[in-house]
Amino acid sequence: MSQPVSIAILAAGLGTRMKSNKAKVLHQAGGMPLVEHVVRVAIEISGEPSRVVTVVGHQADQVKAAVSGHGCGFALQSEQKGTGHALLMCQDQLKGAGGLVVVLYGDTPLLLASTLRRLIDLQAETGAAATVITTDLDNPRGYGRIIRDGSGNVTAIVEQKAATPEQAAIREINSGIYCFRADLLWSLLPAIRPNKASGEIYLTDMVEALNAAGHRVVPMKLSSAEELLGINTKLELSEADRIFRDRKTRQLMLDGVTIIKPETVTVDFDVTIGADTIVEPFAQILGKTTIGANCRIGSGSIIRDSVLEDDVLIDAYTLIGTSHLEKDVHAGPFTRLRMGNCVETGAHIGNFVELKNTRLGAGSKSMHLAYLGDSTIGPKVNVGAGTITCNYDGRVKSKTIIGRGSFIGSNSTLVAPIEIGEESYVAAGSVITTRVPEDTLALGRAHQVNKPGWPSRRKAKQS
Ligand code: UD1
Ligand code: MG
Repeated sequence: MSQPVSIAILAAGLGTRMKSNKAKVLHQAGGMPLVEHVVRVAIEISGEPSRVVTVVGHQADQVKAAVSGHGCGFALQSEQKGTGHALLMCQDQLKGAGGLVVVLYGDTPLLLASTLRRLIDLQAETGAAATVITTDLDNPRGYGRIIRDGSGNVTAIVEQKAATPEQAAIREINSGIYCFRADLLWSLLPAIRPNKASGEIYLTDMVEALNAAGHRVVPMKLSSAEELLGINTKLELSEADRIFRDRKTRQLMLDGVTIIKPETVTVDFDVTIGADTIVEPFAQILGKTTIGANCRIGSGSIIRDSVLEDDVLIDAYTLIGTSHLEKDVHAGPFTRLRMGNCVETGAHIGNFVELKNTRLGAGSKSMHLAYLGDSTIGPKVNVGAGTITCNYDGRVKSKTIIGRGSFIGSNSTLVAPIEIGEESYVAAGSVITTRVPEDTLALGRAHQVNKPGWPSRRKAKQS
């Protein structure tokens, strides 16, 4: 049986080079905080959230809150005394589990679960004391360098500051990602002394400690450095974001989604999209959105935390937040579904129509220039251009109910709370303040008066 794997995520640093008041690991790439990417991969690998411990320090409460939904543990490192010291903070929680301990960084979010599996497999195959992920960099500046012996094992990791010119010329660097045998880690790590120059406890010193105790440390060299990109600046953050977006759109396309000019499209990590849906340039599909099959998402549309069933057509420049659109709905161009809406099957919402907390019934239409707020609108209703539900009197929000099959004439003002019965008509330009029963025409406007000859009489007077 394979051994249990515990994972420590070091995420206590502030990240001064971000030039931000926010702790580095809270910045987002691919629509998710950096640390959450790492936590998710860690849980996937350990198979058990309780075996994942995130070391927090700077803005500990916010970092905890960002990942608390995943059920993993936390260790507090109140003073940042180095990577070795950070890992020691996990000892109480992880020591009992035995097996293997994988160390990850909260600011290295691109690492794939498949790579971590290879790391664990290599460790098991070689029976080494530890395995460290390395890669060759053209510009290795700032990283720890990998020192190997004649048989290719790692004998030491030398930090940039301590490197001799020969060591500094080595291009193979330490990624900071390791897999340790838990028994050796927890027996040797507490004995590592602080670095003389910096006063920090370096986790990298474990390599020499293991060698000194007669154990082997093996490298796992990656041919590409992409997965190991550590985020230190906003520039690197945008690079990571680009890679996440690229991974996401590629996967969607392989799953049968058509994406036109994918390099312009933004799709968050948790979004799902069904086959044969077409996503046009510059669309943004964000948060926990689910889109069905055979839909079309128009250029420049922004959809957040919403559900779109199959065959939904969204024309260009439509904004949708926390809404549910049933099958065959057509919205846009330039529609705003602000929040909390349910648009039933086959309904059609056109340009410059805003919906908020509104249910629009099956097959109903609101094609132009309307505000429908806090409303329940039955099926087969036609809402004319310029219709406004007056849902707010400055103090409270009130509801509008429109019954099945009714027709609201253009430029009507429905003063809520108000109810329009089924199969009724509201005449264009009406201000409706009292209930309209079913099967009724409501005229809420002044009667028209025609004065024949009035313009010419006026002209004659003025001349
Ligand atoms: C470390 C490695 C270096 C490696 C590099 C890869 C050491 C001594 N050096 O250097 O060999 O090439 O990573 O990126 O380990 N952290 C804490 N508490 C601390 C210190 C750090 O939680 O007290 C966390 C940071 O938040 C960060 C990670 O550990 O997520 C790495 O720390 P950082 O200071 O960036 O280490 P490097 O100097 O980059
Ligand atoms: Mg670093």
